[in-house]
Amino acid sequence: MRREFRLLPQLIRDVVPGDATRAAVVGAHADLVCRVLHTHHEGEDALLWPKLLDRGGEEALSSVPMMETQHRSIDRSLFEVSELLREWRSTGRGGEELADAFELLLSVLVAHMATEEKVVLPLAERHVTAAEWRGLGEHGMGAIAKKDLPLTFGMAMYEGDPEVIKAVLAHAPLPVRLFVPVIGRRRYAAHARRVHGTSRPARLGTLV
Ligand SMILES: [Fe+2]
Repeated sequence: MRREFRLLPQLIRDVVPGDATRAAVVGAHADLVCRVLHTHHEGEDALLWPKLLDRGGEEALSSVPMMETQHRSIDRSLFEVSELLREWRSTGRGGEELADAFELLLSVLVAHMATEEKVVLPLAERHVTAAEWRGLGEHGMGAIAKKDLPLTFGMAMYEGDPEVIKAVLAHAPLPVRLFVPVIGRRRYAAHARRVHGTSRPARLGTLV
């Protein structure tokens, strides 16, 4: 998520104003990453915060409300972006404004993810069971169109910790375990070639 959102403002600025064909390609990508982010947050709102507030005591009470506030501000930002995106992806007009809106979204998102990883993940590790954690992943996968799943998976795999990827797939049926990584990797390479102009876009660690 961080990589794709980090690359988006420049991708949008690189589209020549009025080039609706190119805007449609980058716009579909922007729309996909926005949907994945929204779905992920929806899952946390519904399945994670209530459990942590219930079980995590003082520590949860002092951190979860902050997460909820950050989600609301990300949601507002996502809404703004999606309004501008609709016009830009069909006409190629208004790219500068859209890129600025994505910059703003990126700044709230980066701050949120850093806090979430530092504060919430350790809490979840103590208070949420492995099955409940899987439920969060299943919610995410259930909300994304089936046709987008291998690509979304490949997008995560491109930079994701292989151990985590393995763990995510550990409970999937055998064909999924075997084929999704292969198809996902291929789909993302083709998608990245179309969107980023290379099958190996800059990894987050190499971006300044
Ligand atoms: Fe979050």
